[in-house]
Amino acid sequence: MRTTPVILAAGQGTRMKSALPKQMHPILGKPLTWYGVQAARQATETQPVVVVGHGAEQMRQYFAGEVQFVEQEQQLGTGHAVLQAERALRGQTDLVLVTYADMPLLRGDTLRALVKAQERHTGPMTMLTLVTDDPRGFGRIVRDVQGRVQAIVEEKQATPEQLALRELNPGVYCFRSDWLWDALHRIPLSSKGEYYLTDTVALAVGDGLQVETIQAEDVEEMIGINTRVHLAEAAAAMRARINEQWMLEGVTIVDPATTYVEPEVVIGRDTVIWPNTYLHEKTVIGEACVIGPNTIIRSSRLGNRVQALASVIESALLEDDVNLGPYAHLRKGAHLAQGVHLGNFGEVKNSYLGPGVKMGHFAYLGDAQIGANVNIGAGTITCNFGMDGKKRPTEIGEGAFIGSDTMLVAPVKVGAGAATGSGAVVTKDVPPNSLAVGVPARVIRKLKPESGETSHSKG
Ligand code: UD1
Ligand code: CA
Repeated sequence: MRTTPVILAAGQGTRMKSALPKQMHPILGKPLTWYGVQAARQATETQPVVVVGHGAEQMRQYFAGEVQFVEQEQQLGTGHAVLQAERALRGQTDLVLVTYADMPLLRGDTLRALVKAQERHTGPMTMLTLVTDDPRGFGRIVRDVQGRVQAIVEEKQATPEQLALRELNPGVYCFRSDWLWDALHRIPLSSKGEYYLTDTVALAVGDGLQVETIQAEDVEEMIGINTRVHLAEAAAAMRARINEQWMLEGVTIVDPATTYVEPEVVIGRDTVIWPNTYLHEKTVIGEACVIGPNTIIRSSRLGNRVQALASVIESALLEDDVNLGPYAHLRKGAHLAQGVHLGNFGEVKNSYLGPGVKMGHFAYLGDAQIGANVNIGAGTITCNFGMDGKKRPTEIGEGAFIGSDTMLVAPVKVGAGAATGSGAVVTKDVPPNSLAVGVPARVIRKLKPESGETSHSKG
């Protein structure tokens, strides 16, 4: 059977007290609706329809190409919201899976179980229910003496006996679509002036049809976000879930409570993550790495056995056995080849550092190509920013030794095997195997003959 998810996300989220629409509030770097979209897609393998209204522009921008949008111009209730998908879906799908955008912890597996339950029987709908002592403002499920579902009563409209009911409506339903659309047109206006999706239950019962339920096993999955208190609660639960998944995959997380791993990150086995570490966006970390404490990594790729202590790594590529920190800063386009060591207060941007490069202390390399085994002395800087606002390149050949406090005024090349003296201001290219010193730097002697040169030709 073909099942199409419909996610309701048009509400304002008044209780968030925010200029940002509720469904765009982030949890681990993703708007909270993102999680529901993933789960719905995973469960049905069909592109979800998202009903937007408040903050529609931001939603359309963020999810462009990923979901189909329908607009609910006036927020006249959850039943009215689903009705907006009629034009797109009538005759196009056998089942309609409805979820609310404010339930980021809902799992794809739970949605799939709900769809399977609806596929197995002939009734018009199956809904998830939740039994718990904390009613959280949820609608109550009313059953008759035989235990058959009769209605869902909203908390605001419930009688004291109904308020005492502990079977709740988390707001997840699967409908037979040939019944759904007409039923939505029949929903009566509530005393609050809204068309409640929950009233489809009483309509089905009125049609002499049976409403099926399956009980949710994990209460935490049903956390719906109405306030920023719920947002923090859901974020903590999501964080714990992601961390647990990686621990079960063989990653050591020393303190899960202070480790923030976003949902698209990948981490290899036997990597150890120390506290207060943040792994953002599509970061990939290899095996047997040691990350943190106090490390932030964004959109970067790390090989195996990389160590990064108290460092910030953004849009960078680190090959195996790179060792960073404390207090290294890698920026966009930094590429560190195998075995590079970057010590305290080293900054690298848009540069390649060849295998075995050592840059121990207080240095900046931008727009540079550094050959293998080069030693970058403390305080070395590429002065790569021209008066015209353009960046200029620096090239340093294999095995060169850059003395402490060297200023490399780009564009400039230092040849392989060359050296600069402490405090050199290099404004002209330094030939291979030569020593240049001073301000501006000049070559004072050859360090060794160049290949092809015989020693007596030096004169
Ligand atoms: C709803 C349910 C309640 C359930 C609770 C679970 C109804 C009438 N009530 O109440 O039984 O226990 O969820 O969290 O359905 N939305 C729209 N358009 C609208 C109104 C809402 O798209 O016109 C969207 C909202 O953006 C939100 C979702 O529907 O994502 C639920 O709306 P909300 O106002 O949070 O419903 P609750 O009062 O929580
Ligand atoms: Ca809600």
